[in-house]
Amino acid sequence: MTWSLTVALGARAYPIHIGSGLLSDPDLYRPHLLGSQVMIVTNETVAPLYLEQLRAALIGYQVGEVILPDGEQHKTMEVWNRIFDALLHARFGRDCTLIALGGGVVGDMAGFAAACYQRGVAFIQVPTTLLAQVDSSVGGKTGINHPAGKNMIGAFHQPRAVIADTSTLATLPQRELSAGLAEVLKYGLIRDAVFLDWLETHMAELLARDADALAYIIRRSCEIKADIVAADEHEAGQRALLNLGHTFGHAIETATGYGSWLHGEAVGVGICMAADLSARLGWLTEADVGRIRRLATSAGLPVAAPADLSAERFLELMAVDKKVQGGQLRLVLLQHLGDALVTGDIDPNLLRETLEATAH
Ligand SMILES: NC(=O)c1ccc[n+]([C@@H]2O[C@H](COP(=O)([O-])OP(=O)(O)OC[C@H]3O[C@@H](n4cnc5c(N)ncnc54)[C@H](O)[C@@H]3O)[C@@H](O)[C@H]2O)c1
Ligand SMILES: [Zn+2]
Repeated sequence: MTWSLTVALGARAYPIHIGSGLLSDPDLYRPHLLGSQVMIVTNETVAPLYLEQLRAALIGYQVGEVILPDGEQHKTMEVWNRIFDALLHARFGRDCTLIALGGGVVGDMAGFAAACYQRGVAFIQVPTTLLAQVDSSVGGKTGINHPAGKNMIGAFHQPRAVIADTSTLATLPQRELSAGLAEVLKYGLIRDAVFLDWLETHMAELLARDADALAYIIRRSCEIKADIVAADEHEAGQRALLNLGHTFGHAIETATGYGSWLHGEAVGVGICMAADLSARLGWLTEADVGRIRRLATSAGLPVAAPADLSAERFLELMAVDKKVQGGQLRLVLLQHLGDALVTGDIDPNLLRETLEATAH
């Protein structure tokens, strides 16, 4: 069964296909390939698993490949530049298409390269992690890290299509599966309390990789994200809600050096911190916060920030976040389960209490 939905962006609208065995289906790629040149961007872990299957779908095209080192710590300008080396050495033109085959790191780097190569070429996302299938492959945010801050250099550049082959999740390490569930939890918390209930009752099936359960959460997550992106592509308003847990999470990622904490793990803790602060503001109940922490724990996620990350350092790192406007920190918080808002009006004492209470 293949599910297809659309990200409704007018002339730049694009499909998201979700299903098992899609990787090697030529019909899904063909409508989105402009010229005959295709550059696959992947990494050293994913290439041996899935590169051949993807190549099989591209017979008849001039196909090149760039195999990047694996890991968030390689989401750098130097590694990113290798994509341009490959494109230029192979003399790829403006009508070429980049295909990102891998998780969010590969997707963000390939997408950003597509945004910049010859001032912008086409690209297709073929996400192979749960996190990439539910989140990073959709919406057109692309970029790389700077030592001073996560995703600080990048562009909005929408893909032509997202092809999410759920059978690739079979080889995903369990820790990565859990990391993806953090973003799924996020969708329930900001938009859909019923979905949150569903996650609570189906967590065991998800962790056991039940194919139907996984396909369902990927679909529901993509629906919510596609809706939000279509309404607010460049994050002038409601798209910021997708950053629930991320300002705290990015601080953890930056403080610990990219790669030791997974993005989804940091976001999982960040969500718990946002919930804690929301309760201190009198919005969520203690019971709500307990529910969120239990859900994160049952998904295999950490719920406490690193003990050696002081409140001062946290605040410093959070000040670099892109959500800071006019020097004022802005956070996504929860008014109720399923209902989030962005606020800059944060009592510094309560924020400090949260930072101190949630580091263990
Ligand atoms: N652009 C966006 O909107 C957006 C949204 C969320 C996250 N992100 C970014 O995404 C990144 C995190 O993505 P991620 O969690 O996918 O991490 P990742 O890309 O590092 O992938 C996780 C690990 O799984 C491996 N892997 C990938 N597919 C596999 C498979 N099918 N089987 C076995 N191993 C596989 C990867 O090689 C890597 O080691 C972060 O850099 C984050 O900033 C971007
Ligand atoms: Zn994220």
